[in-house]
Amino acid sequence: MQRFEKLLDEAIDLLPEGRVREAMRYSLLAGGKRIRPALLYTALKGYGVPEEKGDAFAMAIEMIHTYSLIHDDLPAMDNDDLRRGRPTCHRQFDEATAILAGDGLLTYAFETAAKSPCNETVRINALRILAEMAGAGGMVLGQDLDMSEVSGVTDWEDLRRVHRYKTGCLLSAPLMIASWIAGHEEDEEKWHKTGEKLGLAFQIQDDIMDVRLTPEEFGKSTSDDSNDKVTSVTLLGMEEAEALMNTLYSECIDETASFTGFDSAAMKELITGIQNRTK
Ligand code: IPE
Ligand code: IPE
Ligand code: MG
Ligand code: MG
Ligand code: MG
Repeated sequence: MQRFEKLLDEAIDLLPEGRVREAMRYSLLAGGKRIRPALLYTALKGYGVPEEKGDAFAMAIEMIHTYSLIHDDLPAMDNDDLRRGRPTCHRQFDEATAILAGDGLLTYAFETAAKSPCNETVRINALRILAEMAGAGGMVLGQDLDMSEVSGVTDWEDLRRVHRYKTGCLLSAPLMIASWIAGHEEDEEKWHKTGEKLGLAFQIQDDIMDVRLTPEEFGKSTSDDSNDKVTSVTLLGMEEAEALMNTLYSECIDETASFTGFDSAAMKELITGIQNRTK
């Protein structure tokens, strides 16, 4: 993914110099796992499409994801100090700059995606998917539900809904967009559902790691407990959470094998790698 890191850096270089630009670069180039771009590139590979065709959207989705993390870490939300192995954006700069860096990344994501060289129908639909999955009917809704969860969430079905929006939507988006780029838009809704399932497994794993890992190992603050978060682990218990996570990952792998005209070998490998990740 060396090529992708360079693309992101070059995209930031195109912005006017300044504090917000440097805060955007600081958080974007801090070495995230790049799972969402990898999902897009791997889905394109499965359809037999060169990965470069997905560059603009892969960058856009990583910018949106990074913005969501910057805002998620703010004192008004999870109030965390460590992210991607570094001080969080508002700790390194200040709160106003972190809010603006998030705003800047969200907006720049759409500018970047709008400049994609693909045909107009694909571009407009990919932009629609980005907006739907990121916005008040997607990740933003999930973050809102997450913030009110202490009073609102009492059972697993409630928490499942929080996870579906806050995490699932941004994992579905790259898969859905890949189907459009590949000319297999009839698969959009099916990828949406597989992405949600993957997001659920991924968030359960994140909740498990928040308990099991130290901040140094995880590269980010482990604050669910001190924030009194209702998580997969607090609701299901560690053993059941882990079993459910593994079942969901297996189901995702099976589902990726059911798309017509899609070679699922690389996707299977990617999902297995995510499942076996250590941070
Ligand atoms: C963190 O996402 C937020 C969650 C949805 C759990 P990642 O675990 O993909 O974070 P980075 O991009 O690798 O930092
Ligand atoms: C946040 O979930 C997911 C989003 C940022 C949309 P978490 O609050 O669990 O993510 P981490 O653990 O801080 O990365
Ligand atoms: Mg959070
Ligand atoms: Mg958080
Ligand atoms: Mg977490």
